[in-house]
Amino acid sequence: MLLPGAAALSAVVVAGLQPPARSQTAISQAVEIGVYSGRHYNTDKALYREFTRRTGIKVNLLESKDDALIERLRTEGNRSPADVLVLVDAARLDKAADLGLFQPARSASLMRDVPLNLRDSRGRWFGLTRRVRVAVVNPKLVNPATIRTYADLAKPKLKGKLCLRDSKSVYNQSLVADQLILRGEPATRAWVRGMVANVTQPFFTSDTPLARAVAKGDCGVGLVNTYYVARMLAGDSGNADKALAQQLKVVFPNPAHVNISGAGVTKSSRNLEAATKLIEFLASPTGGRGYAEANNEYPLKGYGNNPILKGFGTFKADGVSAEQMGARNRQAVNLMQTNGWK
Ligand SMILES: [Fe+2]
Repeated sequence: MLLPGAAALSAVVVAGLQPPARSQTAISQAVEIGVYSGRHYNTDKALYREFTRRTGIKVNLLESKDDALIERLRTEGNRSPADVLVLVDAARLDKAADLGLFQPARSASLMRDVPLNLRDSRGRWFGLTRRVRVAVVNPKLVNPATIRTYADLAKPKLKGKLCLRDSKSVYNQSLVADQLILRGEPATRAWVRGMVANVTQPFFTSDTPLARAVAKGDCGVGLVNTYYVARMLAGDSGNADKALAQQLKVVFPNPAHVNISGAGVTKSSRNLEAATKLIEFLASPTGGRGYAEANNEYPLKGYGNNPILKGFGTFKADGVSAEQMGARNRQAVNLMQTNGWK
């Protein structure tokens, strides 16, 4: 007969999990880690609890806006209680790295689980989920088949039909950085000017109102992150938004610009091993799936099992390095501001 402890252990093994390694047991004695996260989804908390259950490492979570967390870490310096910083968007991760807020983590499993183009080449941060900036089309106003690439949004026949979020949006900044890398400055400048010439509505300050405007026919086409449409379709913001989102056709430009949320170990952390373990868990196929599903995002590899995302179909990622997008952020912002992207 199995003792209760042994039964619990065998249940873990049945679930496909490894029994704790010796080093895990050692650090599980009393270790607590602080996590500062720019993500704010209840399901993230369930994942941190699962991590604690597996490792014994307690997670103290502080959620706030990305830029506020960066500022806080700068102010706290070496006294910061944060061991892991989770941020949304490659440009912010790169900014935090530039400010010296991360220390490199060495990990064979992170090398394996996080594709090369979705992590910092010096190990300071690692992508955990993927999101795609897509065209949402109102088929009554624009034929979705005419939108095949981001460049198509600059075509003069879309005059008065294109709606864009403003250039303060880090998502748009990263998209422009992405195009700078893929197409070079002259082509990207011409593209930005062409799009700006097609915009007659005021620039939007967030993605959801933009998606609503396209659905209502105020605009024929706009650019938003996939998860905003998915949230509306899921009914998370009510039946009215759900009905609106059902009017939209999601079009993946080919190839598609992929951005990330990601995390790194803070410079101030004295718990490098435990902090790295948390990032490893979140990047693993198990933890990563949960992290992506929490916000209707795509996992690091493949398309996941979210039925709403499956309904959008598949996309071909353009493969641009998240690190390079961050490095081009300033050039992208400058190009947007000097070419009329408000
Ligand atoms: Fe967002």
